[in-house]
Amino acid sequence: MAFVERVFSGVQPTGNLHLGNYLGAIVNFVKLQETHNCIYCVVDMHAITMPTDVWGGPAELARNTREVTAAFIAAGIDPKKHIVFNQSQVSGHAELAWIFNCVARMGWLNRMTQFKEKAGKDRENASVGIFDYPVLMAADILLYRATHVPVGDDQKQHLELSRDIAQKFNNDFGDSIRNNGFNDGLYFPLPEPLITGPATRVMSLRDGTKKMSKSDASDNSRINLTDDADTIAQKIRKAKTDPEPLPTEEKGLEPRPEADNLVGIYAALAGVSKQAVLKDFGGGQFSSFKNALVDVCVAKLSPIAAEMKKLVADPGHVDAILVDGANRARAIADETMRRTKDIVGFIRQA
Ligand code: TRP
Repeated sequence: MAFVERVFSGVQPTGNLHLGNYLGAIVNFVKLQETHNCIYCVVDMHAITMPTDVWGGPAELARNTREVTAAFIAAGIDPKKHIVFNQSQVSGHAELAWIFNCVARMGWLNRMTQFKEKAGKDRENASVGIFDYPVLMAADILLYRATHVPVGDDQKQHLELSRDIAQKFNNDFGDSIRNNGFNDGLYFPLPEPLITGPATRVMSLRDGTKKMSKSDASDNSRINLTDDADTIAQKIRKAKTDPEPLPTEEKGLEPRPEADNLVGIYAALAGVSKQAVLKDFGGGQFSSFKNALVDVCVAKLSPIAAEMKKLVADPGHVDAILVDGANRARAIADETMRRTKDIVGFIRQA
């Protein structure tokens, strides 16, 4: 059976969206709108898998959910042509996750490297939800029978688990799937990752070997999507560099993570290659390159920050977008749940 090509991705509402989220994920989400039907989900149910002080409690969760939604829209995601909603409004995510809990194996989840990182040393004290996180993620994707999932490198293993779950479900229930009219025995597609390339991996401004992260103690390590022009300029001027002038060839960036990162950010924001950036700035000092980088950052990010500010100031409007998106998502999700229940053998109202 040919599945309709459909994109699904999720972003957690856990505070401070930064340049890494923008270049690594959101820019790609925007682009995919031209070629696919897209569903973009603010995964509030994933956010609460961490201890409350990490996601900030109920008021912060609601605020951050609206802020991620605002960022999507400010960056150019069209919530009318595509679907933007928050996960908890569509009960199918939790329902399908339960069925998948009974398909996924303990051994598979025990191998997830992100769980080991997130649970830390005190594993006894980790929530059951953080262990089960990848199963909920599989449910997110397969509830819409999505075929393509734009994610960063770090989510590759989770996506493989989604494929394993889809495949085992199709196997375990193969006869029933066929009896329900899917003659090839395939009910769930095996979703393909669309991994965003290393060019869009944004590193910390203080340490070019660490990813830019909302959890870094230093705010100077990242450019937040809501930073104003002065803050952006200050952070870039303070960004760590090395004493050498910029190289003229891309190869010269290899042993210089900070230089590589700044050139990469410029290239991604300007929509050109790193080599093209070095053609203009190679051989020159960092100070003049940084001035140009400030200009391109401010030019790209200021309109987004301004639009986000406007949206966040009107929570009623943002909530209406999420409700509308959830209604349209639910129409697809309900159909999947009806079929899935029939396949599993759960009695339901006809
Ligand atoms: N785990 C993803 C992250 O932290 C977020 C996520 C949840 C997701 N569900 C998803 C991403 C489904 C893609 C598809 O980045």
